Amino acid sequence: MSYETLSGRRIVVGVCGSIAAYKACEVISRLRQAQAEVRVVPTRNATKFVGLATLRALSGQNVAVEMFDDIPEMEIEHISLADFGEVIVVVAATANTIGKVAAGICDDLLTTTISAAAGKVIFAPAMNWRMWENPITQRNVETLRGYDYQFVGPDCGHLACGETGVGRLCGTDDILDAIDQALGPDDSKLRGKRAIITAGPTREWLDPVRFISNPSTGKMGFALAQEALARGMQVTVISGPTCERAPWGADLVEAETTEDMLNAVQEAHAEADVLIGAAAPADYRPEARAEQKLKKTSEGGRTLSLVGTPDILASAMQAKGHRIHVGFAAESENLQQNALGKLEAKGLDLIVANDITAPDAGFGADTNEVTIYGRDGRSTPVGKRSKRQVAQAVFDEIERLA
Ligand SMILES: Cc1cc2nc3c(=O)[nH]c(=O)nc-3n(C[C@H](O)[C@H](O)[C@H](O)COP(=O)(O)O)c2cc1C
Repeated sequence: MSYETLSGRRIVVGVCGSIAAYKACEVISRLRQAQAEVRVVPTRNATKFVGLATLRALSGQNVAVEMFDDIPEMEIEHISLADFGEVIVVVAATANTIGKVAAGICDDLLTTTISAAAGKVIFAPAMNWRMWENPITQRNVETLRGYDYQFVGPDCGHLACGETGVGRLCGTDDILDAIDQALGPDDSKLRGKRAIITAGPTREWLDPVRFISNPSTGKMGFALAQEALARGMQVTVISGPTCERAPWGADLVEAETTEDMLNAVQEAHAEADVLIGAAAPADYRPEARAEQKLKKTSEGGRTLSLVGTPDILASAMQAKGHRIHVGFAAESENLQQNALGKLEAKGLDLIVANDITAPDAGFGADTNEVTIYGRDGRSTPVGKRSKRQVAQAVFDEIERLA
């Protein structure tokens, strides 16, 4: 998943005295790889778990711990850090620091910076499950949520104490997703609306070990989901089999066959404001699925009888109502003509056409090159861009219609 949207953004990473503090190093490194500008504020106790030399080297910046540290370029540190951070993310957030912020206590550089924050604040907690379930911790979390502080995790899993439960720091990608979403535009017309996005291929089984499919990886659909979440939408991704990870915050519905995908779309459609068909569902399936593995024939060949699968977007058209429907047309010839034909036949508002024979575009690539055609006759060419940038262009068009 791409985090290029973090490039040039200003992030403060707070680190607390948790056994999971070392994972903050990975978050800082990934933020720097995404070209974000990072400042790190460890608590005094965090420095018992991660060395300042590591935090300095990873962030490429001086690191202050104490409020009264003398670092000349940071005039009044807590204010300059609070001003600097478009987002402050606390990895790993301890029960202690969560409790202090909830109580309005500012007795170190991190809690004081948070209290003066100009941007959004995200806590990624990590602690023993009893600490997490402690009603005082839960009350503190609720208090902070009530003031619009955000939480990512904790997950359920193996904890450093050897026990299993809720309290494990969530994955680095989840934290980057939460930052990406916190940095999204506040004024999107789509905020609070619901998107259904289909992604990936489907599989149509011949027998228990073979299927018909296509090389779709779902990268385009998942990039659309990231963008929808960044614009504050509620997102359901209905995905065929793929190795892509659903972005944090999306509801993931897995669908194997085209029929499964159709059923999932029909189930979610009533609640949706936007439907984007970015999946590549198989258009045909074997007429029958053999119960046992088909054996090689002595002649070496076999004729398959295929039947058509249902058309997902065309069937959603029946109940379209106020919803914005967007389709994708992956074509190998007559791109514009075929795309406009689909726009009409499926009653779409927008169609995103891409030539799958172009280099670095379409199936599996990290980039795409598309033209977005609107029902109103508008056409928007989007030259070769990352799939996230293509997703931004698609959502700019959706915003225009919303
Ligand atoms: C080995 C060790 C691991 C700890 N891990 C955690 C943890 O994961 N989460 C937590 O809330 N507290 C943890 N603590 C307790 C905190 O370090 C302690 O509450 C401390 O006051 C937190 O300070 P801070 O919030 O200023 O960083 C741990 C303590 C020790 C000694």
